[in-house]
Amino acid sequence: ASVDLMERAAPTRHRTQDRRHETFKTEVAAFANTPDTDPSLAGNRAWALELLERSAYTTLGRQTIEDARIHGPAGLETLVRQTREAGTRWQARDAQVRSWLLHQAGHALAHRRGDLVAVMAAEAGKTVAQADVEVSEAIDFAHYYAESLLRLEAVDGAVFVPSALTVVTPPWNFPVAIPAGSMLAALAAGSAVVVKPAPQAQRCAAVVVEALWQAGIPREALRLVTVPEGPLSKALVAHSDVDRVILTGGWETANLFRSWRPELRLHAETSGKNALVVTPSADLDLAVADLVQSAFGHAGQKCSAASLGILVGSVGDSERFRRQLVDAVRSIHVAHPTDPSAEMGPLVETPGEKLRSGLTELGEGESWLVEPEQLDATGRLWSPGVRTGVRPGSEFHRTEYFGPVLGLMHAPDLPTAITWQNATDYGLTAGLHSLDPQEISTWVDRVEAGNLYVNRGTTGAIVQRQPFGGWKRSTVGPTTKAGGPNYLVRLGEWTPRPLRR
Ligand code: ALA
Repeated sequence: ASVDLMERAAPTRHRTQDRRHETFKTEVAAFANTPDTDPSLAGNRAWALELLERSAYTTLGRQTIEDARIHGPAGLETLVRQTREAGTRWQARDAQVRSWLLHQAGHALAHRRGDLVAVMAAEAGKTVAQADVEVSEAIDFAHYYAESLLRLEAVDGAVFVPSALTVVTPPWNFPVAIPAGSMLAALAAGSAVVVKPAPQAQRCAAVVVEALWQAGIPREALRLVTVPEGPLSKALVAHSDVDRVILTGGWETANLFRSWRPELRLHAETSGKNALVVTPSADLDLAVADLVQSAFGHAGQKCSAASLGILVGSVGDSERFRRQLVDAVRSIHVAHPTDPSAEMGPLVETPGEKLRSGLTELGEGESWLVEPEQLDATGRLWSPGVRTGVRPGSEFHRTEYFGPVLGLMHAPDLPTAITWQNATDYGLTAGLHSLDPQEISTWVDRVEAGNLYVNRGTTGAIVQRQPFGGWKRSTVGPTTKAGGPNYLVRLGEWTPRPLRR
């Protein structure tokens, strides 16, 4: 089960500033999520094997990113001017047509599922299973926002005024779902888009953009650019003719963007330091499986990953829990995704200083239950690690490492566990494993995170059912949850509807 706090009775500080928006939700009546590929079917396994062979030498997306280079400040000015003009034309088109084109985009992404999985394996090191769910999410975003946009028009008393130009700066860790979701939301809200993918995942974004163009989204209204980090990239984000920026990345990056242009309308999903609490009432078998999946899916490189396991009372002393966890972590097969049996792939790049310290250095009172090891000369392939004895307030308790290392904390009781879970600067996801209704209700009332998950892992939010977004330093700007009923509402301005004569 998951609890969507924001859509439910949310604590005051998480409410939108403008209460009108609470009634202007663009909720979609009926929505069916796209199924993932079922690996129990032999045909699907053969499909995956063929994709992995192809991913080793694929050139997918390469030409598109070659064509996306911006040449100097003059090139940037032309791009911004032309895309703004295209935005004005795009928003003038009938909402039904734009909605239909977004549905077409969903079909085009579905048609290119294999290409998207192959390019994610090749460029971002994603395993087939991790990449496949991302394609489903991207398709869901297309159909969900296609329906949502029709409801933007149907608000009494106010007119939604779209932006003309939105810049999207997505991350490398969800190199398909997040760029797709951000671009599709901006397009749905009537804006043209310039997307500047993360340097580590440009080809993944390129294949998404190709699919959207193939679906009929006008090329002038959706522009992919590759600019090196530096003055040109800053000039794009800080350009006075850019109406909005949708960023998914670090909290520091959001602040940097703000420092470049204080009046920037920034919608940023930022960092997380997420914990999963396990109480003695939990189904411990399930808790181990969910903790391992949440910590080590995509090598822990998810903003939603569980990087802390907070074990309450006797769970911390349970030899059975410890042994199951250690066995499960040791049995994860770490390999490049071209190996079909890989369960965890490589890091997107060799670890920087911070992650390296998380993988190699212990804080006071900590010890390794499973020590991470560098597995090959590339420096990118690491086995997963689990440290125990993490103390409240310690470096590991507070720091987001973004890699395959889990820390265990031992709490005397649930209130203490919740205090520790909340005692970080971030508030993105939070998990609880408990079968006690009273514990669940106490936890739901007190925990400070955007996405709360009960008896489930902390990753893998599902469009409409579990809209995704955070609190505290996990969000910057007027951001509402992606894949939820409020997301489009915040991507334009509202003015009172003129009185009819
Ligand atoms: N939406 C991604 C997840 O929930 C970040 O894991």
